[in-house]
Amino acid sequence: MTDQLDWGDGDYARTAQALEPAAEVVLDAAELGRGEHLLDVACGTGNAALAAARRGARTVGVDPAEALVGLARERAAGSGAEVEFIVGDALDLPVADEAFDAVVSVFGVIFAPDADRAAAELLRATRPGGRVVLSSWVPSGPISAVGRALFAALPPLPMASPRWGDPAWARELLTRHGAGTVEVHEHALPFAAASPEAWFGEQETHHPVWRWGRRQVTPECWAQLREESVALLSEGNEDPAAFRTTSRYLVISARAG
Ligand SMILES: C[S@@+](CC[C@H](N)C(=O)[O-])C[C@H]1O[C@@H](n2cnc3c(N)ncnc32)[C@H](O)[C@@H]1O
Repeated sequence: MTDQLDWGDGDYARTAQALEPAAEVVLDAAELGRGEHLLDVACGTGNAALAAARRGARTVGVDPAEALVGLARERAAGSGAEVEFIVGDALDLPVADEAFDAVVSVFGVIFAPDADRAAAELLRATRPGGRVVLSSWVPSGPISAVGRALFAALPPLPMASPRWGDPAWARELLTRHGAGTVEVHEHALPFAAASPEAWFGEQETHHPVWRWGRRQVTPECWAQLREESVALLSEGNEDPAAFRTTSRYLVISARAG
């Protein structure tokens, strides 16, 4: 039996909390107006969809991880927001053509295995003149280095084009799929923990990707990866009394043609 990556495994909601400020940045870039129709692709626990609803948008969220969609629905019910959450894939969005004024994805669609198909789907779902806005990590800094070390230790993964963090590549991809103008701006998000060891421990205990990765390798290999990762995190640590780092990310904004 294959052990497929399930973003509903572990407790992704802990990471999602740290990403909430980026959802607001992405919505700002989408220039969302009240009453507009917004789609949040790879919505996870619903950060951007719920924030968009608070801004007065009519909102739909899509994600393949049933457990996360369940959490998103619970959050919506708890806050009284009317958001529709659908289990679905970015590569085959369960929505009509040109149905949305804005389509956003916060560190989400970048994990879909076929970037061309994902770009085509984002633009298909957006009305002419509407906006597609997504965020992607820039491959720099200690957390990115630790992520690269993890993926180097694993068999090739059917996900993620790290190239979404390359502005020229993202521009070319979206333009090729029909986007008009494409703008790229850089932002940063802080992450903190009690120590580099505690940051790594948090990931291996709760984060679905790290939990999945751990199951793919021997305990000895994982111990080596932990040691290497703590060294990388310590090297880039901005707070010698604990652990803090600032991860750079791109906000890529395209107009549907
Ligand atoms: C880092 S999380 C981001 C979640 C959410 N956007 C947030 O800001 O917290 C990545 C998300 O991408 C989703 N994902 C992975 N592959 C996907 C695919 N092929 N189509 C749609 N979503 C996908 C995962 O289920 C997960 O919810």
